[in-house]
Amino acid sequence: PPLHSLLNLDEIEAAAKTQVSRKCWAYYFSAADDLLSKSYNNTVYRNILLRPRVFVDVTKADTTTTLLGQYKVGTPLYVSPAAMARLAHPDGEAGIARGISRFGAMQLVSHNASMTPEQIVAESKPGQIFGWQLYVQQDRAKSEAMLARIAKLKDKYKCVVLTLDAPVPSKREHDEKAALETQLLIEESQSEEEKKNKRPGSNSGVGQQLFFGTAADLTWSTTLPWLAKHTDLPIVLKGVQTHEDVYLAAQYARKNPGSIKAVILSNHGGRSLDTAPPAVHTLLEVRKYCPEVFDIIEIWVDGGIRRGTDIVKALCLGARAVGVGRAALWGLGAGGWEGVDRTFEILQGEIQTCMKMMGAKDISELGPRFINSRMVERD
Ligand code: FNR
Repeated sequence: PPLHSLLNLDEIEAAAKTQVSRKCWAYYFSAADDLLSKSYNNTVYRNILLRPRVFVDVTKADTTTTLLGQYKVGTPLYVSPAAMARLAHPDGEAGIARGISRFGAMQLVSHNASMTPEQIVAESKPGQIFGWQLYVQQDRAKSEAMLARIAKLKDKYKCVVLTLDAPVPSKREHDEKAALETQLLIEESQSEEEKKNKRPGSNSGVGQQLFFGTAADLTWSTTLPWLAKHTDLPIVLKGVQTHEDVYLAAQYARKNPGSIKAVILSNHGGRSLDTAPPAVHTLLEVRKYCPEVFDIIEIWVDGGIRRGTDIVKALCLGARAVGVGRAALWGLGAGGWEGVDRTFEILQGEIQTCMKMMGAKDISELGPRFINSRMVERD
């Protein structure tokens, strides 16, 4: 179907499913175990109600904001780091960059991107900003070499995103099943000799294969000082899931100026620990137990964004920025860079409609007065 006929993120996802390979679909769609965190991510915003005000001149709604304390962006909506965009479409991560360029959105690039960090930013617009996501490797020299490479691209890459919520591989059964099916097909056509010489691990899912070499021994006291030695960029901690850890991050940031600038509340799109909380639950915890952190570090969130209203709700509850992972990939699958452009057009339109309907003229006006979160806090 033509992209303009796709009206919401569900339709983009359905269109992508018809375009991409079974392997791609299974890898993007999959989440840990029973997909409970993923499905809760997708429904939690529905139980948060808006409190719109009337008699406000809302001829215009301005979505511009600043991130990392200094970079002006056109929208608080950003692209979360997600691996292997070229599985969906040859435009890949550079296509995502192109697709979001007219919205002035930030893009976080995965450690496991299918294009190089240089290729991804090569044709981006002046002022378009990126972050680079790091999975610390057991072989630290490899990570150090990548950080040195990113340092050379500092016109474009403005932060290092350190992902913490995936210290070990999770069980993603859709991804594994797709790999097993492929393996069975291959085996049918293989000789006994070929079967014996198979590379170990070559029949595991995409996620398992990408995980190989990732370190599981990260700590507050060892990893952050190591990282500071190898990058001058601000650090964003991704996958923080409790108010206790948000508090520790803020403490660290206070004691080490120029280190941690933001944390991303995230359960990895439900792909790591099943039944880990959706970001909005953690956000509500933070509001309750350590609201002072909002003045020390920026709080970003991702997971389960389907609508502009979801984004506005997170912003009202104190998020500085809101990320989408799968939505950008499905956009790419549905129509290359133009599919990403369409996805962002839909979400940006919905954000603006929501703000106007609520009587909010710009992002700074968004706050808890617009929210009734009783249904979520009770459960
Ligand atoms: C991810 N995510 C992820 N996160 C990360 O830090 N590094 C990575 O390489 C990846 N890879 C990845 C691949 C795919 C296919 C998906 C769907 C996700 C997690 C991602 O950054 C983000 O947290 C979630 O995708 C947010 O949830 P939604 O928007 O997909 O619901």
